[in-house]
Amino acid sequence: MESSSALLLLAFIAAVAFISRIINRKPPTKLKHPPGPKPWPIIGNMHLIGSIPHQSLHYLSQKYGELMLLKFGKFPVVVAASPEMAKQFLKIYDTSFASRPALAAGKYTSFNYSDLTWAPYGPYWRQARKIYLTEVLNAKAIKTYEHVRMEERRTFFSRLHSLSGKSIVLREQLCRYTLSTMSNVIFGRLVFDSHEAKGGNAVKLDELQAMLDDWFFFGGALNLGDWIPWLNYIDPQGYVKRMKALNRKFDRFYTSVFSHHLANRDPSAPKIPLDSLLGMPGDPNLDVKLTEENVKGLLMDLLAGGTDTSATTVEWAVHELLRHPHVYSKVKEEIDRVVGRNRWVEEEDFPQLTYLDAVIKESMRLHPLATFLAPHCAMEDINIAGYDISKGTMILVNTWSLGRDPKVWDNPEKFSPERFLVEDIDILGSNFALLPFGSGRRRCPGYKLGLKLVRSTLSNLVHGFNWRLPEGMTVKDVCMEELYGLTTRPKISLEIILEPSLPLHLY
Ligand code: HEM
Repeated sequence: MESSSALLLLAFIAAVAFISRIINRKPPTKLKHPPGPKPWPIIGNMHLIGSIPHQSLHYLSQKYGELMLLKFGKFPVVVAASPEMAKQFLKIYDTSFASRPALAAGKYTSFNYSDLTWAPYGPYWRQARKIYLTEVLNAKAIKTYEHVRMEERRTFFSRLHSLSGKSIVLREQLCRYTLSTMSNVIFGRLVFDSHEAKGGNAVKLDELQAMLDDWFFFGGALNLGDWIPWLNYIDPQGYVKRMKALNRKFDRFYTSVFSHHLANRDPSAPKIPLDSLLGMPGDPNLDVKLTEENVKGLLMDLLAGGTDTSATTVEWAVHELLRHPHVYSKVKEEIDRVVGRNRWVEEEDFPQLTYLDAVIKESMRLHPLATFLAPHCAMEDINIAGYDISKGTMILVNTWSLGRDPKVWDNPEKFSPERFLVEDIDILGSNFALLPFGSGRRRCPGYKLGLKLVRSTLSNLVHGFNWRLPEGMTVKDVCMEELYGLTTRPKISLEIILEPSLPLHLY
């Protein structure tokens, strides 16, 4: 009897629970997602992304709108394609989107997200940014290293002079120059051997350059395992295997640079950034303790961020100037007027070179280096412009679209520096139609140094040399096609012939 009463009681409780669940069931919350193409099973919309992803997404945004939702595998990706949407992510709701997605590139090529670029938003990132801004990238530190930039510039232009009349690959020369400059700033010496001078370094110039090229390539690559996690086991593109190999190369490189430095350091020499960074592991005063691996990661930012960026920006500007000889002549005339023909352009001349500045801005508008900035990531569920965006969504701000927005730019496809003379348009993050350095918390911390390198290199290339294309090549052959990566550069590196145009004693 007792057991049948207990059974009845249990049955009664179960029935009540069941009925109350039905009564209290909330209707499923209806989220309103941004519009976008219908995803396929397993791959989502990845089949719509071609070899130049920012262009693929640009054309899709024209169909679906300024805020578009895609799926990479099953993961949501939102693309911002208008200045207003860029402002929502980078200014109005900046705190909610200041993180980075945890992609394989950050894990395997940046010492487990130890650099600033791939570090998730939080105390480590905050401390790393503070380190950069106090040690290397503030106005005072940049001034301290002015003599290094001048010395490297002199070497660069002497080398170009020695190659005058010969066809040279411009990119090789530019990268060598920016790499030498950053190497001397960060490490106090050249940490690579050149073809000409064999030294005791672990890498040669072309090896280090290839490593950096790969670093940028993987930073932008669509690695399938990031989006369809079970594919990680087979790594169908072989990217993860190559990223791990690249990391081993960088690891060996930094280890040898560190031991060389510790063995040869002159205690009476002025402190260089490497001294500060090497003193950090074990420093009890840091909010977040740093390891040697973290220091290697942090150096990645300076080495990669400081070299390819400026070189590629100059490369694009040279391509445009070759295609627009009247613009090239106007830049040359301006420099002649301001600087004269008896010296090189110096950093203090920049404020007076307004047309040169307009050329650089116009080139950055049409050829933004980071066509998606670096990817951002939503840190919480949030509503933007009436659309729900869930935590973990990757945000791509398509700067390639922003620079071509016909609502903002007249005749957007036309290369016309004059548009920047009519209006003073900011490039440091307050004008959301032109974001070469991004905006908000994740804005490029190296913009001051980057701009100095770009202005000084481009102006002196124009000032110190007459340019011509190799025999049989016309301006129509100057490649304007893009090679996509974390930074996007011309697909075919330019060959050019330079002839000195200043008095010979200056070279
Ligand atoms: C013309 C030169 C340069 C351009 C166009 C450029 C552009 C950019 C862009 C677009 C971003 C991403 C911003 C975002 O995600 O919202 C970025 C981030 C970054 N840049 Fe630059 N950059 C340049 C030079 C430099 C230099 C010289 C350095 C350092 C020596 C540097 C170090 C960095 C670092 C560390 C980040 C990551 C910041 C973070 O995630 O918090 N950049 N840069």
